[in-house]
Amino acid sequence: MCGIVAAIASRNVAPLLLEGLKRLEYRGYDSAGLALLDVNISCLRSVGRVSSLENLVREEQVEGLAGIAHTRWATHGAPTERNAHPHMSGSIAVVHNGIIENHDSLRKWLRELGYHFESDTDSEVIAHLVNYYVTQTGDFLDAVRSACADLKGAYAIAVLNANDTQRIIGARRGSPLLVGLGEEEHYLASGASALLPVTRRMIDLEEGDIVEICRDSIRIENGGEQVSRPIRLSDERAEMAELGSWRHFMHKEIHEQPQAVADTIEAINHLSYATPEILGDGALDILRKIKSVRLLACGTSFHAASIGRYWLESIAGIRASAEVASEYRYRQSVADPESLVIAISQSGETADTLAALDHARRQGETLSLSVCNVADSALVKESRLRFMTHAGPEIGVASTKAFTTQLVVLFLLTVMIARIRGRLDPAMEASYLDALRHLPGQLHEVLGIEPEVVRMAATLTRRQHALFLGRGVHYPVAQEGALKLKEVSYIHAEAYPAGELKHGPLALIDAEMPVIVIAPNDALIDKLKSNLQEVRARGGELTVFTDLDSHRQMSPDLNLIRLPLSCGILSPILYTVPLQLLAYHTALNRGTDVDKPRNLAKSVTVE
Ligand code: M6R
Repeated sequence: MCGIVAAIASRNVAPLLLEGLKRLEYRGYDSAGLALLDVNISCLRSVGRVSSLENLVREEQVEGLAGIAHTRWATHGAPTERNAHPHMSGSIAVVHNGIIENHDSLRKWLRELGYHFESDTDSEVIAHLVNYYVTQTGDFLDAVRSACADLKGAYAIAVLNANDTQRIIGARRGSPLLVGLGEEEHYLASGASALLPVTRRMIDLEEGDIVEICRDSIRIENGGEQVSRPIRLSDERAEMAELGSWRHFMHKEIHEQPQAVADTIEAINHLSYATPEILGDGALDILRKIKSVRLLACGTSFHAASIGRYWLESIAGIRASAEVASEYRYRQSVADPESLVIAISQSGETADTLAALDHARRQGETLSLSVCNVADSALVKESRLRFMTHAGPEIGVASTKAFTTQLVVLFLLTVMIARIRGRLDPAMEASYLDALRHLPGQLHEVLGIEPEVVRMAATLTRRQHALFLGRGVHYPVAQEGALKLKEVSYIHAEAYPAGELKHGPLALIDAEMPVIVIAPNDALIDKLKSNLQEVRARGGELTVFTDLDSHRQMSPDLNLIRLPLSCGILSPILYTVPLQLLAYHTALNRGTDVDKPRNLAKSVTVE
């Protein structure tokens, strides 16, 4: 989604802003722009990549000691130059993340006052509002305060004023914004990674904060009162967001999974014990009293939720449901005050997941736990308990290592709840924890089948559709495989529980339809075999992923890819890896923008 970087210094800030924007590129965007304050404001905008903006800055030779910059992911108005940020109004330049819900009424009012609109965006109203209040009050900070008071919706903004050159003003409500502290220079950004080349010292702004950054000072206020916020050292190491010798972040992140899983397991002290205290104060009491679990998430995180649901019911014996957050937030559901609401999100900033958590709380489901990869995210702050994944920064828009680490955390949580509910004898618990300890090594082994997957991708590349099948806990794995393939290769892919085939999708099967089957050696394998006969009989092109010890044999109408082990209880995690590789290599063959697929954003901070 959109990104913001701003800086005020005693040197030209253009290179710093451009580098910051590049570091936010992974979030997804379709245009970029910046405003630099020298004697006047120079505003440059371009459609496409930050590198085009960089060329423009070089050609125009613009510089400034203060500046604001933005990457835009279109919501209101097409991705065109005139809709790109910054938006200008007289001496004012503004960049904005979020959505202004009352932009229509503000636009009407501002037009009546004589303001002329150049874009189709909701954001432009902010520039005119600030301009209007500057002319009314004569004070830049007062003007931003008044403008913010008029806005309904979500925003993070950075504002520059050509007539007030010693400060940049920022504000946040509903969208993240942080302050970076440098030596005699200060910064604003929507994400810490943008500022890592210049500082690790950050302040997270809170809801309703307005901040004034100058070269040698910062001042934060909330509700008209000056406030102080803690300084933290960002633990994202700059080099972790580097591509190094890899061609794409997605490929790098797939291969980082053994380490990410190991880091996630290691971060939990006393693994042999899997103690609830790591989740926060009062965790044991909460886990003792819950009677059900409601898992809320979007996209890939929803597939993790769906797998978690199977584990919670079958291992911990607790009623569990997995809900798509964007649906649940508007559903009249029956609340269970003794339910643990688990919100799952890589970024912790997904608007629908945050709203769903809030909806659950308003319905009386107040016991909450977030599973998240970003410690200082809104989701973690909003939850009573937290279970962190330690995947490291995930840059590729397609989620890979975040998913497998979410599954590790959900499995551990299941073990904790099962023990507390007396559903797990010590030997079984020890065997589960042992399986987890072996997981990083097993992931390495599974990554070893990449050459076979590359061969399969060569065939899939030519297809327009694909069908993924799984049963039981592997049905959400099939869904994740289909989501990965469609988002990075743009091949239309669907997932079905294999038993549903004959209720409709069987009509799609012919020699042109690749059918990809997740077939571990589990209790449903015989049922799955019958389902596969239905596909074979209709000439479907079958590829079956299976365990090393499966009895299936290769045949002319069956492409068999064996994982190099028998997968056991953690098979949903292991089977995900070849599907990620399949999506990656197919996308590579089709020449798509793998790390930044069209129309998608890394972190969906708007509804
Ligand atoms: O940051 P979150 O986990 O909340 O993001 C949820 C989805 O937007 C995300 O998983 C999305 O589906 C990915 N692009 C999938 O690869």
